[in-house]
Amino acid sequence: MTGNQALIAALARGERLPKEDFIRLIAARSPGDCEFAASLARETALREFGRKIYLRGLIEFTSFCKNDCYYCGLRRSNRSAGRYRLSEEEILLCCRWGYAHGLRTFVLQGGEDPYFTDERVVSMIRAVKAEFPDCAITLSIGERPYESYARFREAGADRYLLRHETASPAHYGKLHPPEMSFENRIRSLHDLIALGFQTGCGMMIGAPFQTPENLAEDLLFMQELKPQMIGMGPFLPHRDTPFRDEPPGMAEETLFLLSIVRLMHPKVLLPATTALGTLLPGGRERGILAGANVVMPNISPEEARARYLLYDNKLGTAGAAADSLLQLRESIRAIGYEPDTGRGDYRWEDHHD
Ligand code: 5AD
Repeated sequence: MTGNQALIAALARGERLPKEDFIRLIAARSPGDCEFAASLARETALREFGRKIYLRGLIEFTSFCKNDCYYCGLRRSNRSAGRYRLSEEEILLCCRWGYAHGLRTFVLQGGEDPYFTDERVVSMIRAVKAEFPDCAITLSIGERPYESYARFREAGADRYLLRHETASPAHYGKLHPPEMSFENRIRSLHDLIALGFQTGCGMMIGAPFQTPENLAEDLLFMQELKPQMIGMGPFLPHRDTPFRDEPPGMAEETLFLLSIVRLMHPKVLLPATTALGTLLPGGRERGILAGANVVMPNISPEEARARYLLYDNKLGTAGAAADSLLQLRESIRAIGYEPDTGRGDYRWEDHHD
């Protein structure tokens, strides 16, 4: 066993590593290390979840955004972005379609759109919960004050996705304009956890200016935060952003981080992302084989999918949702796993063991 493989085996035994070891693991990973980590991570996921892969219906309900993140195609300065909002009725139509196809989690995702006041978000949550009381609602609508999050929770939202993007304040400052604050992002995550949301954080792999030390800091940050979900995909450039000429993240590195995260967080809900599927043919399936256990099929209307473009060449922007959902189910079965449309809640009872 190489030195790196000894470190990976230690993570699989539940041991903690100092930052220097994580830096070394990430900076000096060999193909053999990646395979070793993937096989242990796969075993861990099988032990915790069996062959189940949870499907979440993703509804991208607004492409307006008041923020100006340098990496994102929805940034407010992008005049070429097609902007749209779904009405409450259109959102319910997506849910009806998803429900009929078995989906029991709806992820309501959008840019930070001031049109969606707390009242409108609450109304949307209540409408979905009234019609689909057996479904989980995941919100992914960015930073809000504690009081807003409390109202969403009260209205029935179960989960919240808010990637921290990077645990390094200096790196955060290179990805975001000065008016955005790292502290407010972290505050938001702590508020969501305090309010009892199943909470997801995460970062892009290979984001511009990211160093192995930054990724090590992400791993240590998440070890302390103990989120219920972790969303990680490769950075992919978008032509109408300041990062248009930056190289994309690497598939191997993304897969390796998925495996490391699975070993550090055996019970975490870990998606194989659309970005990974966009970077690499069969990328989401490779993500599952590296320890992921969630996929998020896009069930937004086709006109919306063509406009909700965070990065170039996004997978699943054309064609009927039914076809891509069927394809996704089949590709999961083809690698020996079982698509599961149940709610797939985080198992809190196991959280601290
Ligand atoms: N490449 C990959 N991921 C991106 N995101 C935003 N822009 C990009 C991009 N260019 C991710 C961010 C955000 C999530 C919704 O999508 O991490 O939190």
